[in-house]
Amino acid sequence: MNILLIGSGGREHALSWRLRDSAHCTELFIAPGNAGTAQCGQNVSIDYKDWSSFKSFCIDKQISMIIVGPEIPLVDGLQNKCKADADLKDIHFIGPSAEGAILEGSKAYAKEFMFENNIPTAGYLKVTAENLSEGLSYLEGLKAPYVLKADGLAAGKGVLILDDLAVAKAELSSMIDGKFGTASSSVVIEEFLDGLEFSVFALTDGKEYVLLPEAKDYKRIGEGDTGLNTGGMGAVSPVPFVDDVMMQKVISRIVEPTIAGLDKRSLDFKGFVFFGLIEVQGEPFVIEYNCRLGDPETEVVLPRLKTDLVELFLACSQSTLSTINIEVDPRTVTTVMLVSGGYPEAYAKGKTITLPDEVTDSMVFHAGTTTKDDVLVTNGGRVMAISSYGTDIPHALSNSMKNAEKISFEGKYYRTDIGKDL
Ligand code: AMP
Ligand code: GLY
Repeated sequence: MNILLIGSGGREHALSWRLRDSAHCTELFIAPGNAGTAQCGQNVSIDYKDWSSFKSFCIDKQISMIIVGPEIPLVDGLQNKCKADADLKDIHFIGPSAEGAILEGSKAYAKEFMFENNIPTAGYLKVTAENLSEGLSYLEGLKAPYVLKADGLAAGKGVLILDDLAVAKAELSSMIDGKFGTASSSVVIEEFLDGLEFSVFALTDGKEYVLLPEAKDYKRIGEGDTGLNTGGMGAVSPVPFVDDVMMQKVISRIVEPTIAGLDKRSLDFKGFVFFGLIEVQGEPFVIEYNCRLGDPETEVVLPRLKTDLVELFLACSQSTLSTINIEVDPRTVTTVMLVSGGYPEAYAKGKTITLPDEVTDSMVFHAGTTTKDDVLVTNGGRVMAISSYGTDIPHALSNSMKNAEKISFEGKYYRTDIGKDL
């Protein structure tokens, strides 16, 4: 079948690498893709917001499956539009409806959903301009650090963790006043949870689900988890502290009640639920839901997934997930993200990237890359993820580091401590 994948990051390169290998994949198109996805299929510049061109493309190319990598097209209702269109409704669509994607699109909705379904998560208060004074007193009753979250999508910047009460109160007011535009006209204040974070991914048809290997990502820019938050600087899978006992708790207290909750709300959800979790004194809590795979988590999860990805997606679309056997490679995979100097603040694009003639012991997943006059150049903050197998974290990491050193572009920066805390 012909497949259209939407997105342009390392996650989409890893997805296209797996999709291309499936016996079910005839032609693979990636919109817009990057220089890495171009090695797996054909990059196309169609934009789902230009509906008539998008629709004509799907019809002309006889697309039978659409897979959405990032959250924004889902929150924008791309699934709803395809399902409501007489010509596109039969395309297998991997990604939830807008009503399902709101689990990621609204932090307040997600908290309500978790409380309604008795899913362990931090205590919270939703604050808008109407109950700002209640929000300020709620903060007074909490212990530092204070967690403030813009309700809506804010390009990963909408969560503030602050040590000082006066600063937290001022930030709460400024968020309500539009610090993150309409995304923060409503704010979730949360109790701070202290523990180790990890991520679990379920592919669900809204009733049944299968679990993919778990992962842990490293969000801060600096060594030892310091400095500004980023989209993710590296990841590992499996996560050693997530043993069978912890996984059973995650399944029974979090995954199953979440899937049952989707069903109870009759949400049209055929896609990924990404559970952002934290272990506090041996117990798992939900930090956030996302309605997609993580990046760079996908770059360690998919190399471990042996099950044919198209068969998995077909089973999701056709509600036959209970027939699927998830086969996992027992090896460890680490990924190290090479980023542009300055990221996550201002950085330059268009820097020439030099790769060794042959990369051994690693897979190079492109993220912010493109080709200009046939030369590979940087095109984003996160440039490429270097994923490697190993018998354990140090072994896999040494392979990733070896290749991270060999790839060059001006301003290249990466963390050398991915997985070293585990
Ligand atoms: P979120 O976008 O909700 O995942 O939040 C971004 C990051 O902020 C998380 O990955 C955590 O590191 C941190 N965080 C969010 N909520 C909490 C919380 N209640 N307690 C501690 N850390 C948190
Ligand atoms: N790496 C975190 C995310 O994809 O949201």
